[in-house]
Formats: sequence, C-alpha cells, structure tokens
Amino acid sequence: MNKTAFDRLGERLIALLRTQPDRTYGWEELARELKTERPDIEQAARVALSWEYELEIHPLAGLAFVAAPDALIETEISHDLNTEMLGRKLACYKSVKSTNDIASRLAASGAPDGTIVTAEQQTAGRGRLGRNWHSPPRTGIYLSVVLRPDIPPENAPGLSVATAVALADTFAAYSPGRVQIKWPNDVFINSRKAAGILCELTAERRRVNYLVVGVGINVNHQKDDFPPDLRDMATSLCRELGDAVNRVELLKSFLRHLEREYGDYCQSGLAAAHDKVHRYSFLLGREVTVESGRCRITGQAMEIDARGCLVLATSDGPAVITAGDVTVVKG
Ligand code: BTN
Repeated sequence: MNKTAFDRLGERLIALLRTQPDRTYGWEELARELKTERPDIEQAARVALSWEYELEIHPLAGLAFVAAPDALIETEISHDLNTEMLGRKLACYKSVKSTNDIASRLAASGAPDGTIVTAEQQTAGRGRLGRNWHSPPRTGIYLSVVLRPDIPPENAPGLSVATAVALADTFAAYSPGRVQIKWPNDVFINSRKAAGILCELTAERRRVNYLVVGVGINVNHQKDDFPPDLRDMATSLCRELGDAVNRVELLKSFLRHLEREYGDYCQSGLAAAHDKVHRYSFLLGREVTVESGRCRITGQAMEIDARGCLVLATSDGPAVITAGDVTVVKG
C-alpha cells in the first residue's frame, strides 16, 4: 500500500496533536510545526477523520485531538508500542483473503524479522489442518508475523508454543477467568477457544528462511458472531469479561509479550517459559489421543519439552510428538 503525501502528513498531524490531547493547536502553530500551509493541514485532518480519529476542528482557533479509533491502523498500533523489532514494520489492511498469504509474500521478498500484517477482516482466513478461520470485520484481531529466527528448522514448531504463552500472558492480564494453552496452538479461556495460531515455515535443510506466525484472536465477538457449529466451543475475551475490549491495546500488549517470548526462545528454547507452559497447560496429566497424518497415538500428557514437543507416556514407553491434532480422552 503506497502512502500519499497527505497520509504521511495526517500521521504527523495526529502524532503532534496527541502530544497534548486537551489543547487546541492554532492553525499558524500547526503550519509552523508541520512545515506546511493551512489548506494542506485541513486536507490531512480530513484524512485523519477518514481513519476515524475524532478531532475538533475550529475554523478560527485550530485543531484538537479528541479520541483515537479502535482500529488496526499503523498510526494506532505504532503509538507507544515500545517494542524493539516486532511491529517496527507494519502493513495494515481493511480486508484481505488471509494475512498469512500477504506476510508470506512480504517475507519472500525480504521483509525484515518482526514485520507485522494485520487486517480488520479476512475473506478466506485459514486455520490449521485446512480449516477456515472465521474472520468477521472489526470484532477480532487477524495478524501475521514474519520471523527470521536463527534456529534449526526442527526447533521451529516450538515457536507456536512460545506464541501461545505470549497470548496466554496477554489474556491473563485481563483476568477473564481460567486461561489455558491446548498444545500446540490453541488458547482457551474457561475451556473454550479464544485464539488460534497457524505457523507456516519456509526452510532449507539446516536453516529457517522465515516463519509466518498467523494469530487469530476472538476479541469482541458475541455468541452470534461465531458460525452455529462453533458457538459452544469458541469464546471471545468480551464474552468472558462481559465488556468490550480495545483491540489496539490488546494487540500491542500481545506484541510486547511475543517479543520477549521470541527472544527467549531463540536463546534457549522454552527453558525460560517452562513453568508458564506447564502452568497454562490444558493437556498435562490428561489422557489424550494425537493424530498426525495416518499416525494415531494415545497416552498420558506428561510434559512439553524445550523444543515445544509434547511428551506422552504410552503403553510402549515415552513418545515425543512434534505436531498433531489432540483430543482429550479422559481427565
Ligand atoms: C487455528 O486455530 O486453526 C489457527 C487459526 C489461525 C488464524 C489466523 S488469523 C490471521 C492469520 N491469517 C490466516 O489466514 N490465518 C491466521
């Protein structure tokens, strides 16, 4: 998406106005600070209104910042984000087929580590195992992250668990009830799915080229926003809290947690997150069946190891599972 000169001026205008939100900035002062003329500032203000910022426009006195929109747009996500690399490069869309597809294309053409793609809506959002990810407009967060970890390809699946830990920490801060990770890629609140992760790896034999980590978060969904077959299995933060949640703040909090988990994982796998992984686990101690391709294995979930593999105690001894679809049999 190419930005126009007025988009860029709109961004600078918003950044300036929100430094003192309760003050009216005179036209002359704005022209001086932004090094341009009043008609351009008026045009930039119209652009900012089209992004759903609330501004007070006084023909004589000038402009004042009133409120920011809860919209997944660059100016909002980058405001006070305070991450080092995650989200330094952002591509925000209103509607796309799948943010993972866009992130993969960007990654293939060299997008840096930590590039983020967001959308307000996906028309062909993808879940794991060829499923759809229902992505209605402006209710959820649909996000893909380009990662370029310096790790061997066999360690990459653990990044799904590290991402789930970042999501669980983010949710827990809202106190919505019991937050749990269903290995390897689902995050539950009060036993219903509130977020899912889809990791797509591009690698050579010994090194990861890039990984696209797609994250779908159910934020302000009401029961009817889910397809009928998911209504009892899925939930949203809003449903559990009984109150709407600001998506931009939630996203920024998640990016901060993810940056920490990603850094830790690249250094020492899940060692630093070991306690959390186990505390949040939905599966540990339970009897589960894991299906992966034509393989099906049943046992008691004992551990998530440092590479993010699920360790089962089976009748034939311990089994280390790298990926699969898990169903709880008992417990
Ligand atoms: C799952 O639980 O099956 C994984 C769901 C992942 C959904 C996200 S939404 C953003 C990104 N783009 C996609 O098409 N899918 C992921």
